[in-house]
Amino acid sequence: MQTPQIQSLYFVRENILHEFRDEAAAKGVVVQELAPLIFASTSAERLFWVLDYWRVDEVPFESISHAVKSLRSRNKKWAYVGSTLFRRGALIAEGLKVPKDKKIQFPAPIETQKKPAFTLKNTTTLFVCEKPLKGNFAGGKVALEEDRVGPPSRAYLKLQEALTLANLEISDKDSVLDLGATPGGWSYVAASLGAAVTMIDRSEPDPKLFKKFKKLEYIKGDGLNPTEAFLSKATVLVSDMACEPARLLKSVSAWVNLPHLRFMVCTLKFHGISDKKVIAAFAAIPHSEIYHLWNNGHELTWVWKKAR
Ligand SMILES: C[S@@+](CC[C@H](N)C(=O)[O-])C[C@H]1O[C@@H](n2cnc3c(N)ncnc32)[C@H](O)[C@@H]1O
Repeated sequence: MQTPQIQSLYFVRENILHEFRDEAAAKGVVVQELAPLIFASTSAERLFWVLDYWRVDEVPFESISHAVKSLRSRNKKWAYVGSTLFRRGALIAEGLKVPKDKKIQFPAPIETQKKPAFTLKNTTTLFVCEKPLKGNFAGGKVALEEDRVGPPSRAYLKLQEALTLANLEISDKDSVLDLGATPGGWSYVAASLGAAVTMIDRSEPDPKLFKKFKKLEYIKGDGLNPTEAFLSKATVLVSDMACEPARLLKSVSAWVNLPHLRFMVCTLKFHGISDKKVIAAFAAIPHSEIYHLWNNGHELTWVWKKAR
């Protein structure tokens, strides 16, 4: 009998391993560890508690030069993620001139050309993925150049990463509604891009922000129930609110119908082990995607884009 083909690779991180294992078990996905924190499965199920997800094909190879030739015949540019047989993989990557990791300056240019990615299964087989979930950040590492002076919190990195991954732009034409905005890292990102920003939070943001940005206002209140006036003018809605994802789900399900809204970025924060039903409900909202970001803690990030 033929052994079933591996269909999926899951790239995980130590701090979310328990969530990944719990989600895999709940969905009946049997995983085996290919290399530390890289799991393979014969299932094609997309799991959400992953740094990256690859649907893979297997490509046989005889030597390093043969692997290089074979991959180059499929595509000119490649990404490589080390797994097992790290050195051999690195030599293939060198042959393909895969660029070394470098820090990303935000905002990064929008990349329309997506690279496929590869890793090694064993000494004679490559795993190849045409479209990694994380696009050109195969494996899930998104190392942004940090600004340790301007933003009032490190949370700003999550919004920068989500915008970069999902190819989303904020400009001076946008009206951004930032829910659960304090101390103001996300608002700092949006205001730096020239947008008008309304911050809603129960507690006061960093006052320095109002000296720096003129198109910034703060409203003390409940981010789950912003007034209609703020909602109806928003072109972008972001939320890093520390609130129950189930309550946020109810709100965003209505907000997808807002007239001017182009996109939403919302952090889903869980106390204890996450509620897989709520995650599935977010994932089922059309035109949305769920990521576990490089800069997320015990969180997921839900991104919705209005259909064109
Ligand atoms: C992680 S912090 C947000 C950090 C922020 N994104 C930044 O970049 O600095 C979460 C915030 O959510 C706020 N929050 C929690 N529940 C809220 C609610 N129902 N309405 C408004 N703000 C809320 C908290 O007061 C807290 O300031």
